This record gives sequence, structure tokens and C-alpha cells, in this order.
Amino acid sequence: MNTLLDYNETKKILEKYNQEHLLNFFEELTKTEQEDLLKQISEIDFEQLNNLYTSLVKKEQKSNDKIDTIEYIDKMKISENKRQELEQKGADLIKQNKLAAVTMAGGQGTRLGHNGPKGTFELFPGKSLFSILAESLKKACNKYQTTIEWYIMTSEENNDETISFFERNSYFQYKKQAVHFFKQGKLPLVNKNGKILLEEKGKIKLAADGNGSIFVSMLKNGIIEDMKKKNIEWMFIGSVDNCLLKMIDPIFLALTEEKKVLAATKSIVKANPKEKVGVFCRRNGKPSVVEYSEISEEMAEKKDENGELVFGESHIMCNMFNIKLIQQVGNEKLKYHVAFKKSDYINEEGKKVKAEEPNCYKFESFIFDMFERVDNILIMRTKREEEFAPVKNKEGVDSPETARQLYLNQNK
Ligand code: UD1
Repeated sequence: MNTLLDYNETKKILEKYNQEHLLNFFEELTKTEQEDLLKQISEIDFEQLNNLYTSLVKKEQKSNDKIDTIEYIDKMKISENKRQELEQKGADLIKQNKLAAVTMAGGQGTRLGHNGPKGTFELFPGKSLFSILAESLKKACNKYQTTIEWYIMTSEENNDETISFFERNSYFQYKKQAVHFFKQGKLPLVNKNGKILLEEKGKIKLAADGNGSIFVSMLKNGIIEDMKKKNIEWMFIGSVDNCLLKMIDPIFLALTEEKKVLAATKSIVKANPKEKVGVFCRRNGKPSVVEYSEISEEMAEKKDENGELVFGESHIMCNMFNIKLIQQVGNEKLKYHVAFKKSDYINEEGKKVKAEEPNCYKFESFIFDMFERVDNILIMRTKREEEFAPVKNKEGVDSPETARQLYLNQNK
């Protein structure tokens, strides 16, 4: 690589986008570090980042979305006969290996205060969230006499640690050849003025770009190709932090096929207007979710004549997609959302600054925005106590303590 030439070209690009500060410490770096920094810069899509900052932070585009309620099917109201029929149909599909499990494990367990990939958090001594997921898949494999392929999305930050955790734990006695890891995408963090943060003098501060990047990452990393080769038709995508996650559900699968939709999801009744869950709706006529960080108080509190929340079907990250849909539109970028976060950085004098309060913007895409790509999805309402026990916070609601209790109630 011709560092000097690259330096001049890079500088020109940075000037165009007001990001020249990224080269402030260039002279202090070793030759290898210099080359590495230029490489990192060359991988940034400045036009995209600029657009995100302008539209999401400076809010030059106002949202005129029309939000309505959306229909769902209550699993508890399906007759016993129909349930049995669905169970049988779903079981046949699972036995034919039409369904794969996908776990999103790219996020950092910041709120939980766990040091390491969230899946390595031990809910009980010696029993990590990853091992709980593996256990549930092993049970399904035994029940349906098959091997279910398991795809795990990691991020740049936690990929190596995640894989070595699986190695150290002998893949929790799951068939190693059936476990596949792939990495999600990343984006730079920017400060209030839209300037990209530096983590070190020669290192740009990057963060996972949200769980919505799963589809692009699956295509890029050959995961969809692999599924196609294995004749897999459906993928169930769940989060790493729900210890009651039911990944292999024949009724859900068969009902999805019966409804002839390309995407499906489970919901539960929102516990209260403030619960930190997204809620299902129709947005401009398309199935969608309004995330808890973006919902207005008025919408969250709105009740019908029976006193029920109008937007009360919660997204619990139990999503199923047909691989055809991902092949068709998976490469089209989903919209981005913005969050104001805390991040340490290198200031203009080259000193490390410890962030005491939120100081930068993080752009993320959300998995559920894929629903807007189709006209209809199946939403199947299920029971909270059977399927949702998330581990999000250190203490209080959705903490290890509440999840442990719910897990024990279900696994007596
Ligand atoms: C998420 C949902 C929310 C839902 C709630 C239920 C999104 C955007 N929001 O919120 O609608 O009601 O769960 O528990 O999904 N992840 C990645 N890469 C990332 C970010 C996250 O793989 O870049 C994974 C996490 O590891 C986790 C899952 O996505 O498995 C959910 O992420 P998290 O940040 O915990 O979402 P919540 O804010 O709780």
C-alpha cells in the first residue's frame, strides 16, 4: 500500500465530510498503524453516515407515518382439534428439516453489567444463557429425531469470545457441525456535531449496527446459501437473552404456512404502558413495530372501551422468516434508528475521555422493520409465563432474578 498517496486521497474525502480530525494523530502512529487507520477510514460509507446524522439527529425529515392497530391470532383460542392438526403438520416440517434456529447474540449486555458476550451470562451456576438455548434445541432434536441447524449472529466485539466459549463448553453437547457463527455489521459512533469518535489515536470507534443488519449479514456470509443447500425454508430468529425462548414450535410453524405469509411473529399482552417492549401496529398499511424508545406517551397509554391497551401486542423477538423473503429483499438496507449513548473517546488533544453521560449517537437498524416489506404477517399471541423471561437489567424488572423464577416455574 502506498501510504502517502492513500493519505492524500483520504484527507480529501475527510475534508468533504468534515471528518479531518480522524487524521489528527497520524504522524504519531507507526507505519502499520497508519495503514490500518487508512483502511478503517476507507471502509466507512461517509455519505450514508452523513445522511443518517442529517435525517435522524438533525431531524430534517419529519415522520408522517399513519399508525393503526393490527390483527393477531390468540393461540389460546385455537380449538384443541385444530391445535392437534397444526402440531402434526408442524412436526412433519421440523422432521424434514424445514426449520432452522437463529440466535441474535451480537449485542453487548451493557444494561446487565455483564463483562462478556451476553450469552455467556450464567443464569444459574454453570448454566449460561447459551447453554439454556442449546438445551432447548437438544430437546427438540430428540423429540423430532433430527438435527436442527443453529446459526448464531455475533459481532466484531464478541465473535472470538463467543466461539471460544462454545469450544470450552464442548458446544454444550450440541452437534458442532450444526452450529454456525456469522458476524453482523458495524458503524462508527458520532458526537453531537456529527464527528466520528476515535477509540484510540489510530482506531475508529465502531459499534454493532443493530439487529436489523442480520439479513444483509446472512447473505454476505453465505448463511442463506447454506440454508438453501440444506433445503431449509424457515428460520426462527430469537434473542439470546430470553431464557424461555421457544425456538421450535410446530403450531407456530404450521399456522404460518397455513396463512401463506412469508413472515410471522409471536406477541404477548403488554404488562403496562411503560413496559420496555416494542408494540405491533400497521404503519402506512404495512405490518410494523413501534419500539419502546420511540413510542409517544399518548400512544402507549391509549386504551379501548374495555380498558385494554390499544397498542398492547408486544414484540418479544420471536420472529420467523421464509428464506425466500430474505433472498428477495434481504440486501435492501432497512431504515435506521438513532440512540444517544455513552462512549469513551480520544479528544482533540489526544487524551482519553471517560464518558460520564451520553455523548454520542449510535445508528441501528431493527429486525422488525423487515415486516414492513410484506403486506401481511402472522402475529400469534402466546402466554407470557410460557415464552418470555428476558434478562435485561442488573436488578428489578427483567433481571436475572425475575428470569430465574420464571424459568424454574416452567422447568420444575
Ligand atoms: C428488543 C426489541 C424490542 C422487544 C424486546 C423484547 C429490537 C430493536 N427491540 O429490545 O422490540 O420488545 O427486545 O425483549 O430488537 N442484538 C444484536 N445486535 C445488535 C443489537 C442487538 O445481535 O446490534 C441482539 C441482542 O444480542 C439481543 C437482541 O438483539 O439478543 C435484542 O437486543 P436488545 O438490545 O437487548 O433489545 P431490547 O432493547 O431489549
